[in-house]
Amino acid sequence: MGYSVKVENLSVVFGTDEQKKEALKLIEEGHSQAEIKDMIGATVANKEISFEINENELFVIVGLSGSGKSTFIRTLNLLNIPTAGKIIVDGKDITTFNKEELRAYRRNDVSMIFQHFGLFSHRSVIANVEYPLEIQGIEKKKRHEKAMEAIERVGLAGWEDYLPKELSGGMRQRVGLARALTNDPKLMLMDEPYSALDPLIRRDMQNELLALEDDIERTIVFITHDMNEAFRMGDRIALMKDGEVVQIGTPDVFFDSPANDYVRDFIADVDKSRILKVRKCHEKGFPWTDHRVDRP
Ligand SMILES: Nc1ncnc2c1ncn2[C@@H]1O[C@H](COP(=O)(O)OP(=O)(O)OP(=O)(O)O)[C@@H](O)[C@H]1O
Ligand SMILES: [Mg+2]
Repeated sequence: MGYSVKVENLSVVFGTDEQKKEALKLIEEGHSQAEIKDMIGATVANKEISFEINENELFVIVGLSGSGKSTFIRTLNLLNIPTAGKIIVDGKDITTFNKEELRAYRRNDVSMIFQHFGLFSHRSVIANVEYPLEIQGIEKKKRHEKAMEAIERVGLAGWEDYLPKELSGGMRQRVGLARALTNDPKLMLMDEPYSALDPLIRRDMQNELLALEDDIERTIVFITHDMNEAFRMGDRIALMKDGEVVQIGTPDVFFDSPANDYVRDFIADVDKSRILKVRKCHEKGFPWTDHRVDRP
């Protein structure tokens, strides 16, 4: 079962300790991100965010550049420390974790995929995919088996001994995905993983993630600035603006009752027919085999 995530009144402020304290006071008094920036120079990247992500949900966060998406997802594994608020993952407030608990959480429970996967260039595909298991101290044979499973899952069987530089961009993304899968995380955090891909490969990867989500029970938080991608992928979507969440809901909720003009504008260009199509395929179990990767 994938983990649930409950965020309560989360604010993340970038600045000195003094600025953070001051910013929290100003937030409470109802000042906006821009006002606080003007008044004291601190950046309120996330402002009083509260919502819940359900077990096994594919939850998408969308918003313009600078709206606070990366800050939010990085806070879910404490790469950013909340200035205020709680983050309850699977019933435990991770902001209270000590060093040991945090290390265990990062190793065993959660994995993060960044926009550029940061593969080790001198390591083969399989050595990259094995890495999370290596730092868990898992013995070689078991490690190898698990890594091969993940490699097969993303359609890269036969490529395990190649170096990242011998792979196309899309294939490298798959290696990153395989690596994020090896420790069998209950919570997978993906920060704009597909934004560098060309449209065809991107659609493949989207479909694969949907199939993967059907296959294994896990919770996925997926960030994008592309509303079409958001609506194609998400069970529910949160739209962020200026560090705050403007609206949360299923695609239907956004279409049927947009919260305000900002939301209306944001979804104006979404191709509704295409979204419904993909979601239908997903419900039917989209064929996992539709990879546009040439096998060696
Ligand atoms: N480490 C940091 N120190 C100071 N300010 C930061 C830091 N990280 C982010 N910010 C600021 O917080 C705000 C939100 O940034 P964030 O990276 O979360 O946005 P984003 O929605 O992910 O944008 P993008 O779509 O461009 O990736 C921005 O104003 C940014 O300058
Ligand atoms: Mg970002």
